[in-house]
Amino acid sequence: MSDIPLPFDAVVTRLRAAGCVFAEDEAALLLEAADSPAELERMLALRVDGLPLEHILGWAEFAGLRIAVDPGVFVPRRRTELLVKESVRLVHPGAVVLDLCCGSAAVGAAIAAATRAAVDDDTPRPAPNGPATAPTAAGAESVTVYAADIDPAAARSARRNLPDPAHVFEGDLYASLPHDLRGRIDILVVNAPYVPSDAIATMPPEARLHEARLALDGGDDGLDVQRRVITDAPGWLSATGHLLIETSEAQAPGTAALFTAAGLSPRIVHDDDLDATVVIGARRPA
Ligand SMILES: C[S@@+](CC[C@H](N)C(=O)[O-])C[C@H]1O[C@@H](n2cnc3c(N)ncnc32)[C@H](O)[C@@H]1O
Repeated sequence: MSDIPLPFDAVVTRLRAAGCVFAEDEAALLLEAADSPAELERMLALRVDGLPLEHILGWAEFAGLRIAVDPGVFVPRRRTELLVKESVRLVHPGAVVLDLCCGSAAVGAAIAAATRAAVDDDTPRPAPNGPATAPTAAGAESVTVYAADIDPAAARSARRNLPDPAHVFEGDLYASLPHDLRGRIDILVVNAPYVPSDAIATMPPEARLHEARLALDGGDDGLDVQRRVITDAPGWLSATGHLLIETSEAQAPGTAALFTAAGLSPRIVHDDDLDATVVIGARRPA
C-alpha cells in the first residue's frame, strides 16, 4: 500500500462514482478521520461498498452533537431533530425523560445537552462535531434521561452518548425499566420503527442492508411497535407528562388514533423543512 496520501479530488471522484451525493463533504470527513493512507483506503473501500459513512466514522452529527454509532445501530436522522425540539419545549427543570427505542440515544443526549445549556448560561452549546454531550457544567443536571432499547449494540452506543451516569436499560420496550419509574415520566420520547414491512425492500441499501431490521420494521401497517408503546404509556407518564412519537405524515392519523384510544389527547406537528412529523399527547382531563 502506498504511503502517498490520495488527493482530495481523487477521493471525491471515487465517492461520486460510487453514487455518494455529498461526495465533497464525505471526502473531507474521511480524510480528517484517516490516520494513514492505508486507513483512508480501507475506509474508502467500505464506503464504496455501501457502508453508511456514520458507521465508518463511528459517529453521526445530530442536533449539533457528535453521536457515537456502532456498526448496525440505527443512524440518527436529521428529521428526528423535530422530536428533540418539541421535547425541549415541554421539558421543565428536574424533569424525568425516557428515550424509548433509543438506538444510539441521540434524542436523549440532545435533550440533555439542550436543557443543560439552558440551565447554565455559561455552558456553551456543543459545537458541531464537538463532544458527544455538553460539557459537565458546575450547575446541576437539569433533567434526568433514561433510555431503553432491545438491541444490545444500541444500548452500548447509548451508554457512550448519555451523560454519566448513563441510565440505559436493555429489553423489550418498558420491560427492563425500574418499576419505580412508573407514573414519573414527564417526557416519554419515542422514535420506534415505523416502516411497514412491505416497504423495507424499497428503502435505500444503506438502511436496508446495514441497519438492523429490528430498527426499521414496524409490522404490516408500520404501527405495531408504536401500538404497544402507546397502549402502556399512560401507566408510565406523570400526571402532567407528555408522550411524543415520531411517525410519517401518512401514518400520523393512525398514530394519533392510538393516542386517543389510550386516553391521551393527540396533536400532530409537522415540519416541512425537516420533512418530519411528531404526534404529541398528554392525558385527557378527567
Ligand atoms: C428507528 S430506530 C430509532 C433509534 C433512535 N430512537 C433514533 O431516533 O436514532 C428504532 C429503535 O427501536 C429499537 N427497538 C425495536 N423494537 C424494540 C422493542 N420491542 N423494544 C425496545 N426497542 C426496540 C431498535 O433496536 C432501534 O434501535
